[in-house]
Amino acid sequence: MVRYLVTSALPYASGPRHLGHIAGAYMPADVWVRYRRLRGDEVLFLCGTDEYGVAITIGAEKEGVGYREFVDRWHEEIRETFKRFRIEFDHFSGTSRCRHHAPLAQAFFTNLLRGAYVLEREEKQWFCPKDSMFLADRYLEGTCPKCGGSARGDECRKCGQWLDALELLNPHCTICGTPPEVRATRHWHLDLPKLCRERIGPWFESKLRRSREDSPAAGTWKENVASFVANMLADLKPRPITRDLRWGVPVPLPGAEGKVLYVWFDAPIGYISATAEWLERSGRDPGTWKEWWLAREDTRIVHFIGKDNIGFHTVVFPAMLHGQGTAFGGTLALPWNVPAMEFLNLEGEKFSTSGGWYVPLEEFFERYTADSIRWTLLQNLPETADTEFTWADFQRRVNGELADVVGNLASRVLRFIETHFDGRVPRTQGDPDPAEGEALAACGRLVHRGIAPALDAFRFREAAGHWLAIGRQGNQLFDHQRPWAHIRDRKGRAAHTLAACVRILEVIAAAGSPFLPDLSERLWKMLGVDEEKRPRAWPGEDLSDLPDLHGKRIGHVENLFRKIEDAEIAAENERLRERARAVASGGKVPVPNEPTPMPPVPPAPAAGSPEITYEDFLRLDLRVGRIALAERVPKADRLLRLEVELEAGGERRQVLAGIAKVYDPATLVGRRVVVLANLAPKKMMGLESRGMVLAAEGPEGPCLLQPDREVAVGAKVK
Ligand code: MF3
Ligand code: ZN
Repeated sequence: MVRYLVTSALPYASGPRHLGHIAGAYMPADVWVRYRRLRGDEVLFLCGTDEYGVAITIGAEKEGVGYREFVDRWHEEIRETFKRFRIEFDHFSGTSRCRHHAPLAQAFFTNLLRGAYVLEREEKQWFCPKDSMFLADRYLEGTCPKCGGSARGDECRKCGQWLDALELLNPHCTICGTPPEVRATRHWHLDLPKLCRERIGPWFESKLRRSREDSPAAGTWKENVASFVANMLADLKPRPITRDLRWGVPVPLPGAEGKVLYVWFDAPIGYISATAEWLERSGRDPGTWKEWWLAREDTRIVHFIGKDNIGFHTVVFPAMLHGQGTAFGGTLALPWNVPAMEFLNLEGEKFSTSGGWYVPLEEFFERYTADSIRWTLLQNLPETADTEFTWADFQRRVNGELADVVGNLASRVLRFIETHFDGRVPRTQGDPDPAEGEALAACGRLVHRGIAPALDAFRFREAAGHWLAIGRQGNQLFDHQRPWAHIRDRKGRAAHTLAACVRILEVIAAAGSPFLPDLSERLWKMLGVDEEKRPRAWPGEDLSDLPDLHGKRIGHVENLFRKIEDAEIAAENERLRERARAVASGGKVPVPNEPTPMPPVPPAPAAGSPEITYEDFLRLDLRVGRIALAERVPKADRLLRLEVELEAGGERRQVLAGIAKVYDPATLVGRRVVVLANLAPKKMMGLESRGMVLAAEGPEGPCLLQPDREVAVGAKVK
């Protein structure tokens, strides 16, 4: 038997997931995993948030919150989103919250260094003198030298090319807007050409389709993936894998202070650290992650991703895995398949969260169900080319397919049974009509020769189409056999038809559970099949292993799908355009000029401080406060006047803090800080200060302390 380790791209913990992401790396993965389990395969399904790198630091700085607080919030939010879609991972980790992650990423780096796959180079980079930092990745913007489009430091937004930042035209710093200057810095580069000569090149060749028989179901790669990789292999260069940043996994070398691993280096290792964490959480030895990751005949690794991640998953990460040699006790496995999706657009344009062009998922789920969106996305997955989500299509699919085909079949069949067979699936006598046998045989074929091979080869849209065809078979049978016309004089014949239709509903529930888990559960309930009796296996072609319902009482019959009104769709389109207009007319958040928090400074030995007892310490009334107001104090260039709440919504205390040189008051409101509440009042610049806000002495001035997780305002600090 084969085991599958299935991953979905780790989403950046820096913003909401939109439908395009869901359609790319998450929903198809969830469908596939559910399907494989029905087929009897062992599957481990992992994901987590990608929590380092510039997407996070810039996001947090824009909001003026600490990195930890920022990623924690998005981690929870993203986890919730997946739940709403019923995307169910075995484990959802996060690269900065998993204790195995940083050590493992550092080990990867060290092993590569030892294998001479990493080159250390002194190089020139853009440096912003005003912000006194090197401008990594998204801290730098300019014009793409290849296509003239607007580009970030690491890649062009328009043509998608990976760029050497030094080639950017008209570069400027995204924090302050000034043109940067070139300065020398030291970085480590992954020797991709060497790694690819050794193993990745030939391995990639083995993933190409050679004949019609080679299929993604047997581990060869989809066309869109293969052509991307071929292009990339034609022009390989060493790539830098370190950055000058204050948030990331530190480079594990002496003298490399202030340098961290590039987020794209550590992130895919997140799949491995998540494996270790999953083992640990299920009471096993985290060190046994190697049982999943060492190359073995019986284990297949499948990465579900969007097309912008292809290069990293098919070339860079495999190269990193190969470069580990046998440091982990054997050769690490390279991915068996990488079924990347192209992009899903929204009403003719690219999704853009910052541009307001997206569907807020919170709101979506107030009005619609997970099934309705899973179905619409399934039917529009960008498997071979970019596709679109439109509200009109959503309505057409829910009303015309889910409600009219599947919902209609369930309610007409089950209501007929309620009315004419006393709520029990009829027992049958004698032979059924050939039409019934044919319909059931067709359904068996759709399951086995339609859906299954399509899912095996990652052709989800085709699979969904076959599943819908089962519903159509049922309706045709019902229409053709006209049980209502025979119910008086030939009740036995009607009984055969109804029993066959019930069987078809069972097929829909059983084969539909990977696509629409909620529908499947509700349908089984309506069919009167209790949870423990529901099939856990993919139906056999003759359908004989489905529960035998003859003579069984059905459950409460209800409509499976609500039809969506035209007015609702018009309102959705209006809301979408309204949101984009609001953003265009200046709803954009400005980027405050906020210094990045300092890296932790090792505790200074308390030389000379007199010893105190715990009781002495308890005399300090330290509490978590919330800054409710912050403003400059006229004529005092160091001081800010703060109003701090020590009880949610409660009385505000005025506190003066000498932090004006490093903090912009606009970014402070709403922040949690630590306050010394029982400090004797003191007057400064004619204002009374009642308490003190705690800050550490950083190299560039005071650095506010704040709790690293959500705690109540007023919480005691001790
Ligand atoms: N965070 C990346 C993105 O959202 C994906 C990272 S996938 C991983 O595009 F493999 F690196 F984790
Ligand atoms: Zn700058």
